[in-house]
Amino acid sequence: METLHDTFVHIADIHFWRVVLNPLRLLNKRFWGNLTVALRRRREFVLERAESYTDAVAATGARAVVLTGDFASTSTDDEFRMAVRFVEGLRARDLSVHLMPGNHDVYTYRAYRTRRFDHFFKPFLPEQGYPALTALPGGTPLLLIPSVVPRHFSARGLIARKQIDEAAELLEQCGDRVVVAAHYPVLHETHGYHSNPFRRLENAEVLRDALGRPGKEILYVCGHVHRFSCERDERYPKVQHLSTGAFLRTFHEQGTEGEFCRINVTDAGFDIVRHVYRNGWIEEPVTPRNQTGA
Ligand SMILES: [Fe+2]
Ligand SMILES: [Fe+2]
Repeated sequence: METLHDTFVHIADIHFWRVVLNPLRLLNKRFWGNLTVALRRRREFVLERAESYTDAVAATGARAVVLTGDFASTSTDDEFRMAVRFVEGLRARDLSVHLMPGNHDVYTYRAYRTRRFDHFFKPFLPEQGYPALTALPGGTPLLLIPSVVPRHFSARGLIARKQIDEAAELLEQCGDRVVVAAHYPVLHETHGYHSNPFRRLENAEVLRDALGRPGKEILYVCGHVHRFSCERDERYPKVQHLSTGAFLRTFHEQGTEGEFCRINVTDAGFDIVRHVYRNGWIEEPVTPRNQTGA
């Protein structure tokens, strides 16, 4: 009989949005972001789902939630207010909350400079900043990795060498089984997605080596690509990469209307179930595939 240590849910890319009507607030990159919201995001990211989907998360029996960023679309106060209300809703359902920003949460230089995300999410942020080592309620170590910077013309992420070194030091302090969470994937191509070079994480390979080399059993959870994928690292077979699709998103080609993943951490390892909405919640047990396109 396997011993269950932790059960947690991974939520990615909620993308709360609101179309900005004041032209003075559109004098930058936000102009384009706002256009995307107006044309596409409002049909795909159905915010009315948030409340009932939160109930579905709570109904899994998980005790913790890990959110890997992109709470907002263009980093406006209105979007952050909705996002914080959502996260408070998770906490009100007795879930412990762990989170980090995505690139859409530092969408403009101004939002980044004024630390707008930090201001809204203060009660949920690690005191020491990122990277941060914390733990799930049952004691499983959880390493939160920073990977976002504002960009003028791309959606590229960045983790600095110094931050990778800090993350490696924190990893050393952990036992043999660790959950690592970041906004960006470290794999650029899997069975589930192929990421455009303008949307990738800079220094991803360095981070991949830093995580894989110590030989620990790692579940790396991320979002950003808005696609589900679970693969075992070809170079470091003890590392599994899980990217969860966007929480509220209607994905016409796949006939889905949102998803999240539930993970059990047991003596035997990580046990992943994808919860996906197809005319109702369906639970799909996940077997990690062998990596492609390495
Ligand atoms: Fe996203
Ligand atoms: Fe993103």
